[in-house]
Amino acid sequence: MSVLELHGVHKLFGDNHVLKGVDLDVDEHEVVVVIGASGSGKSTLMRTINLIERVDDGRILLSGDDITDPAVDVDKVRARIGVVFQHFNLFPHMRVIDNVTLAARKVHGTPADVARDRAVGLLEKFGLGEKVEDYPDRLSGGQQQRVAIVRAILTDPELLLLDEITSALDPMLVGEVLDLVRDLKAQGSTMLMATHEMSFARSVADRIVFMHGGRPLEVGTPEQIFGDPQHPETREFLARITHR
Ligand SMILES: Nc1ncnc2c1ncn2[C@@H]1O[C@H](COP(=O)(O)OP(=O)(O)OP(=O)(O)O)[C@@H](O)[C@H]1O
Ligand SMILES: [Mg+2]
Repeated sequence: MSVLELHGVHKLFGDNHVLKGVDLDVDEHEVVVVIGASGSGKSTLMRTINLIERVDDGRILLSGDDITDPAVDVDKVRARIGVVFQHFNLFPHMRVIDNVTLAARKVHGTPADVARDRAVGLLEKFGLGEKVEDYPDRLSGGQQQRVAIVRAILTDPELLLLDEITSALDPMLVGEVLDLVRDLKAQGSTMLMATHEMSFARSVADRIVFMHGGRPLEVGTPEQIFGDPQHPETREFLARITHR
């Protein structure tokens, strides 16, 4: 079954018709990477799935449940989705361990000791074992972003949404974050990710979605999209982004 299905999703900001009928699905354990020019609607797409933006038309299903139904409990939907965005949004006044376990304790009602054990295990696994009791400002950008990812996966979400998670990082620190995403893929996480890192997209994606003109213009395997793009717009975008 698909973890995520979008059917004819439209989103407008005033006269700006950003999403013009997006159809998309993400299967269980699949990694789908969204690429496209700045302003093509990648973040807006992510934000409609997380219900930060309400769609103007169309439907979004999460494991078969219509989450665009106006009667839906938004907090319950969000609790099923792990989200990491470009700017680390760790709470500066909270230690790493408390940042990571907050949602598990407050939203999921996980007992504090259970959440802590699981968090420490994951932080150790991802090379952050020494940082458990530190405050975020003692961590590098790459470490902070890895903490944000651990926080997002702590409660085993059905879907991970990753939006440009490396674009605010020093190039030296990008690799450690991308390695973590590779580990998550190897463990079978289901992910929808937007990135400008084309070599990473190519290596980690099961499918690539090229957003253009408010909808997915071309969808295919990395081999198809990078090796044999069918649309002139896709070719033009790839030529521009890989020759910077
Ligand atoms: N909250 C908002 N209010 C008004 N317009 C918005 C809002 N969010 C996004 N937009 C507009 O929607 C369009 C798509 O923006 P979006 O951030 O989704 O693009 P993107 O593909 O993520 O770009 P980038 O690669 O730069 O991250 C842009 O024209 C943007 O100005
Ligand atoms: Mg964006």
